[in-house]
Amino acid sequence: MTDYKTRHKLFSTMRRAEPYSNEQLHLPPHLRPSRDATSSVTLRDDTSGKEWSLPVLRGTQGPPVIDIGDLYKNSGYFTYDPGYISTASCHSALTFIDGDEGLLMHRGYRIEELARHSDYPEVCYLLWFGELPNKRQKERFLRALTYHTMVHEQVISFFRGFRRDAHPMAILVGVVGAIASFYTDKEYDFSSDDGRWVAVSRMLAKMPTIAAMAYKYAIGQPFIYPRNDLSYAENFLYMMFSTPCEPWKISDNQVRAMDQLLILHADHEQNASTSTVRLAGSSGAHPFACIASGIASLWGKAHGGANEAVLTMLEEIGNKEHIDTFLAKARDKDDPFRLMGFGHRVYKNRDPRAEVLRNICMDVLKERNRGRPDPLLELAQELEARALKDSYFIERHLFPNVDFYSGILLRALGFPTAMFTVFFAVARTVGWIAQWKEMTEDTSNKINRPRQLYLGEKERPFVPLEQRDSHKTETKVPPVHHKSPAPAK
Ligand code: CMC
Repeated sequence: MTDYKTRHKLFSTMRRAEPYSNEQLHLPPHLRPSRDATSSVTLRDDTSGKEWSLPVLRGTQGPPVIDIGDLYKNSGYFTYDPGYISTASCHSALTFIDGDEGLLMHRGYRIEELARHSDYPEVCYLLWFGELPNKRQKERFLRALTYHTMVHEQVISFFRGFRRDAHPMAILVGVVGAIASFYTDKEYDFSSDDGRWVAVSRMLAKMPTIAAMAYKYAIGQPFIYPRNDLSYAENFLYMMFSTPCEPWKISDNQVRAMDQLLILHADHEQNASTSTVRLAGSSGAHPFACIASGIASLWGKAHGGANEAVLTMLEEIGNKEHIDTFLAKARDKDDPFRLMGFGHRVYKNRDPRAEVLRNICMDVLKERNRGRPDPLLELAQELEARALKDSYFIERHLFPNVDFYSGILLRALGFPTAMFTVFFAVARTVGWIAQWKEMTEDTSNKINRPRQLYLGEKERPFVPLEQRDSHKTETKVPPVHHKSPAPAK
C-alpha cells in the first residue's frame, strides 16, 4: 500500500519533473496527455512588462489546456474562474463531451450506441475497467453485482431513525454515508486494487436496494429483498414496486427502458456531483462517504433535482393555454423562474441523452396508456416546440436536457416525483466511483484545495465589547423562534 505521505511526495516529484508521461497514470501510452514542447502560451503583465511562458497540454480530444500549476510560484498570481467555466480540474479517460457538437462518449463509445446496443452492467464494466467485457468477463461481473445486493440487517435500523415523510434523498445521503461503518479502513485498503474492487462491487450492487428501501419506508410498505434471478434494472423495479402479497410482473419493454435510462445517466464527466466526489476523495476520505457527498450535490435542482422540478413545473403549467405565460416568466430577468429541463453548461446545441430519452419515453407511454394520448407528455412536447421557436431560447442556445423527459418516463414507470433524483443517484453511482478510482489510482493526485479572491476586511484592531457601537450590531442575529418543529411522522 502507498501511504498518503509517499503518494504526496511522489506527486510533487512527478509534477515538477515529468508531469504527465508516467506509468503511474494507469493509462496506455496512446492515451497519455502530451506536453508539446513547441506549444506554449505567454502571459504578460501589462504593468511590469514581465512575461511567463505557460506550457500547453493536449489530450486525445477536446480543447488544449494551459498548465497553470506553476503560475503562482513563478508570477505571484492566482487565476479566477468561479464556476470552473474555463478550468479543467483534472485529467480523465472516462467520458468525453463536445458541447457544440452534442457529443457524449464513454471510453470512446457514443452514448446513443451504448443505449441502443449495450446494457447497464456492460456500461458499468466499461467505465470501471476501460473496455467492454467479453462473455466470460461479463458473467463474472454480473455475479459480483448480483451476489452483493443485500444490505446488512443492521442497516434497517438506520431507516427507522428517519421521519416517514423525510425526503428520500436525505435518507440516501445518510444511509450511504453510514454504510462506510461496515467497510472500515482497518479491514479494507481502498488504495489497493482489491480494496477498490470491494468499493465498486458493493456500492453498485447495494445502491438499488438502499434506494428502494428509502421508497418503501416512506410509503410504509415492507422492504423487499433483492432477487438473484432478475437483471439489475428489473431487480431495482421489483424491489420498488412489488409487495409480498402477490406475484409481480413487468413488461420486457419497461425493463429495457429502465436499463437504457440507467445507461443515459451513468456518467457525465466533471459535473458538480462528480467534482464533489473527487474533491472529497482527494483527501483520502472513505469511498462510501465520497459517494454520499456526490448524492448531496446531485440533490440540487440545478443538477439532478431538475427532473423532479420539471414535473412540478409541468403540473404547475397545467395545460397548453398557460405555456406562453410561463415562457414569458422564463424570459423575465426579474422573475427567478427558469424553464426546468432546459439549458446546459456544456451542451449548446443538443443534449444527445435527451433525444434518446424522448423516443424511449414515447414507447413506454404508448404501452402504458394502450395507445391513448398522455396529457403530460403532450404538454411537454408542446412546451419544447414553442420554446425552440422562441428567440430568447434560440439566442441563448437553450435546448431540452436529459431531465426534461426523464421525469415523464420515470413517472410512467411508476416512480413518485420525490424518487426521481434518487433514481439518478443510483444510475450515476458508477460514474462517481469510476472517477474516484481513476483519481485514487493516479499517484499524481493531490488534495484539491482551490484558492480565492479575498474581498473582506483588511487586518483591523480588535474592539472590546463595551466599546462597540450598539446600533450597528443590534439587528444582525434573528430572534429565536419558539415554534416547535412539526411532530415526527
Ligand atoms: N430558463 C430560462 N433562462 C435560462 C435557462 C432556463 N432553463 N437556463 C439558462 N438561462 C439563461 C440565463 O438566464 C442566462 O441568460 P442571460 O445571458 O440573459 O443572463 C443564459 O441563459 C445563460 O445561463 P447560465 O445560467 O449562465 O448558464 P449556466 O451554464 O450557468 O447554467 C444550467 C446551466 C443547467 C444550470 C441552467 O441552464 C439552468 O438553470 N437550467 C434549468 C435547470 C436544469 O434543467 N438543470 C439540469 C441540468 S442537466 C442535468 C445534468 O447534466 O446534471
